[in-house]
Amino acid sequence: MSLLEVEGLVKRYPVRQGFLGRAKEYFTAVDDVAFTAERGETLAIVGESGAGKSTTGRLILRLIEPDAGTVRFDGVDVRALDQPALRKLRLRMQMIFQDPYSSLDPHLPVGDSVSEPLHVHFGMSRGDRLRRTAELLDIVGISHDVLERYPAELSGGQLQRAAIARALTMKPDLIVADEPVAALDVSVRAQVLNLMLDLQQEFGLTYLFITHDLSLVEVIADRAIVMSTGRIVEQGTVKEIFESPREEYTRSLLAAIPRPVPLSLRTAPGPVPGVATDPTGELHLDSVHVDAVKD
Ligand SMILES: Nc1ncnc2c1ncn2[C@@H]1O[C@H](COP(=O)(O)OP(=O)(O)O)[C@@H](O)[C@H]1O
Ligand SMILES: [Mg+2]
Repeated sequence: MSLLEVEGLVKRYPVRQGFLGRAKEYFTAVDDVAFTAERGETLAIVGESGAGKSTTGRLILRLIEPDAGTVRFDGVDVRALDQPALRKLRLRMQMIFQDPYSSLDPHLPVGDSVSEPLHVHFGMSRGDRLRRTAELLDIVGISHDVLERYPAELSGGQLQRAAIARALTMKPDLIVADEPVAALDVSVRAQVLNLMLDLQQEFGLTYLFITHDLSLVEVIADRAIVMSTGRIVEQGTVKEIFESPREEYTRSLLAAIPRPVPLSLRTAPGPVPGVATDPTGELHLDSVHVDAVKD
């Protein structure tokens, strides 16, 4: 059984209010979307701005209600759950946003935001919470002194690492990452992508990686879904999409990548140009081609 199974997902937004505030016209932002995501893989959702990617991500976590379709997470129909059951299931599905302020309260020290779920959902004592939070900061590679600092005092990369730490407190199976590196400086982007790859290895995470940027897909994803105007126009392995895109739309996205990117970065047998390998043979993307990526 796949971790995530999505079928016939539809979301319409009202575009014009009619008489007595009743919606008269609808815009279909997500139109009959279906896919599965397997445990431990990264599935990218790629497409231009407005394609319906974020809406799809929010529908999966049931942050918004679909007009049609089903989302099954680990075999459970997410829509059939009552509020308490949904809250419990949501711990296993976390979201990371382009803007880390979506998950970190600007008025709270970062440590409090990161540790809050440990209190709210797991009823951990203060001492246990502090220990666990410190562990998580080590895991995401930021120093413990950010615990006392406010979000405005952190760099973009540190903020996104803290947002990831907060998501990890809930020991999720699935992380929906919506343009998680789009707001970061190019040098920091590669570091955060590396972190995500490491965490996936360590915790067996499944990622739904939403991006408008096809060049990131090749670095991070196993498979990809290409969306345009609410519909899936193409899906396949990253290799299939890069080597033999079937749709003109996908080809146009590929053509927009500033320069060719090496294939199969994760499984490359030898050194890939622009990518440093350390003595353990692990790939490091510090210098990788994402420096050529433009927003
Ligand atoms: N809350 C909303 N109300 C009305 N329209 C929306 C809302 N959210 C998104 N849309 C519209 O739905 C379409 C898809 O949006 P979105 O899912 O954010 O796309 P993407 O993430 O691919 O850029 C866009 O045309 C957007 O303007
Ligand atoms: Mg979006």
